[in-house]
Amino acid sequence: MNFKLRTTLCGDSDTLLRQLVDARLQFDLVLTDPPYNLNKDFGNGTDSLPLDEFIAKTQQRLQLVAQLLSPRGSVLWFAIHRYVGHVQIAMEKAGLHYRRMNIWRYENGFSHSSRYPRAEYEPFLWYSKSDTEWTYNADLVRVPYRSQERLENPVYYRSSSGERRAWRPNPLGRLRGDIWEFPTLAGRRFAGERTPHPTQKPESLFTQILKAFCPLDSHSRLTGMVIDPFHGVGTTGVCAERLNQQGHKIDWVGIEIEPKWADIANRRVAELSSDLFAERIGKRDIDK
Ligand SMILES: C[S@@+](CC[C@H](N)C(=O)[O-])C[C@H]1O[C@@H](n2cnc3c(N)ncnc32)[C@H](O)[C@@H]1O
Repeated sequence: MNFKLRTTLCGDSDTLLRQLVDARLQFDLVLTDPPYNLNKDFGNGTDSLPLDEFIAKTQQRLQLVAQLLSPRGSVLWFAIHRYVGHVQIAMEKAGLHYRRMNIWRYENGFSHSSRYPRAEYEPFLWYSKSDTEWTYNADLVRVPYRSQERLENPVYYRSSSGERRAWRPNPLGRLRGDIWEFPTLAGRRFAGERTPHPTQKPESLFTQILKAFCPLDSHSRLTGMVIDPFHGVGTTGVCAERLNQQGHKIDWVGIEIEPKWADIANRRVAELSSDLFAERIGKRDIDK
């Protein structure tokens, strides 16, 4: 099978994932935000399946994903609280190994209803191909310590042998937890990033996920093959390309069934290189 990297293919993942398996391709990271079955209008009815069909499709997709993962590969799969249990069962049945249920907590947002608590999060599951080996670049996704005092004063503790030891904070920050707090694309602040897609994910969140889960080469560059089989308007590819512009080497492919979203995805990526080109030309003019 011949397919182009660093682009969004317009097609049906249920067919294309099988073709990728038959072609014996391997991916280090499957990062995706598939339809949650919440009746969103993607233009194709894919978010409005009878529950049995949604469960069966999720199972088939994860069986294929499991075959596509490289030995240290991982899948990061977004879901919604209502159906995430079904997705977990499908992951286990596909022979994948549970690492963590992460939470994307909305940094912003408001409620439409006073009949329920406001929905403030989306879970995203991390499963790995192997139960002993996987990639997680903890140092690349550290977060600031909550207290500045922490940075100034060591904490003393007794080791298991009774020795007094000092713990000092890591200059790169605190280890990240499994609650990832990032804004949604609501409001004027994100008008420049937003497209007409109804469930576009924020670049801030997807960039951190790529940094955490892509393999590193011997020069500490992010590398590997990433696939997003429900690419929408291409947030995974856009974030990978932005990282590549900083010197990283991520190969990626997106699959999106709806031509209008696939077109926007490819346009967003093309615009990144023309922005960079404009920046370079600008810089050359300044350098003169
Ligand atoms: C939740 S959206 C993904 C949004 C994406 N993360 C972004 O930021 O743009 C899910 C996408 O999957 C697409 N989709 C649904 N079924 C598909 C299939 N069988 N193959 C490929 N894409 C599909 C939908 O059209 C929709 O755009």
